[in-house]
Amino acid sequence: MKGIILAGGSGTRLAPLTAVVSKQLLPVYNKPMVHFPLATLMLAGTREILIISTPRDIGGFKILLGDGRRLGLKISYAVQSSPRGIAEALIIGEKFIGGGNCWLILGDNIFFGHGLSQELEAAKLENAGATVFGYSVSDPQRYGVLAFDDKGAPKSIEEKPAKPLSNYAVTGLYLYDSRASEFARKLKPSARGELEITSLNNTYLSKGELKARKLGRGYAWLDTGTYDSLLEAANFIQAIEKRQGLQVACVEEIAYRMGFISRRQFAGLSREMAATPQGPYLKSVLEEQ
Ligand code: DAU
Repeated sequence: MKGIILAGGSGTRLAPLTAVVSKQLLPVYNKPMVHFPLATLMLAGTREILIISTPRDIGGFKILLGDGRRLGLKISYAVQSSPRGIAEALIIGEKFIGGGNCWLILGDNIFFGHGLSQELEAAKLENAGATVFGYSVSDPQRYGVLAFDDKGAPKSIEEKPAKPLSNYAVTGLYLYDSRASEFARKLKPSARGELEITSLNNTYLSKGELKARKLGRGYAWLDTGTYDSLLEAANFIQAIEKRQGLQVACVEEIAYRMGFISRRQFAGLSREMAATPQGPYLKSVLEEQ
């Protein structure tokens, strides 16, 4: 299944950090932010990826990730000329999607947790329509908010409600069937002038074709939208990596473990990166039994 990473926007909440650099290229501890959603898509088995960013920033992503071949991926690029809303990604990406099912992930969303790969596989198997992932947060009014009925099925999604009906935020990872681009084209811009992803999800909900999967407390879904949350995300990644001696979102390692590249190709990457701080880690993965 293909996947889109939406990595545009104006990044105003992180100014002046974003005055010359895309938010999604800023470091989260030891990696550019976009490596995290890229790793998530790779863990879902996705090898064909479209990255959408601004006219100013798209070149930076191309330099960072190229055509993706070194990771066994096929990465292409498209521009969103201005931030007209998250749902526009499905219109921009319509040709890329090519009439199949597709993941959409926001370039600033970080997921971490045991069994993520299996969770995403299960979502793919069960999807019929659209699937969103809910995550319990202490400040739901900052997000799209999911409410559930007695049977645990999604009842409503509201974008940034003043009075949230639950603590479940809709995370920035979405799975859509082949109708998503068509439905997105029919959306009207919201009061803030955007094609809201919540409106697209509500289109599926009104047809009874929206699934909501809860990511339990064993997962971390990290925010990077403010100075503090960006630093906290970096500290979280640092703490996990130092404690475990394992890396989070090491895309070379994931490409190897997912079988996107051969052992010989991975050995090549390990040599290529030998002089970088990541070098010894890749070598240890290569040498493990
Ligand atoms: O992170 C999850 C939340 O993302 C969801 O709970 C909300 O339902 C959803 O609307 C969105 O809320 P945000 O307030 O985080 O949206 P924001 O406008 O900040 O955009 C999220 C990311 O997408 C951000 O990194 C910039 C990028 N973006 C956004 C828009 C509107 C684009 O690349 N293009 C756009 O047109």
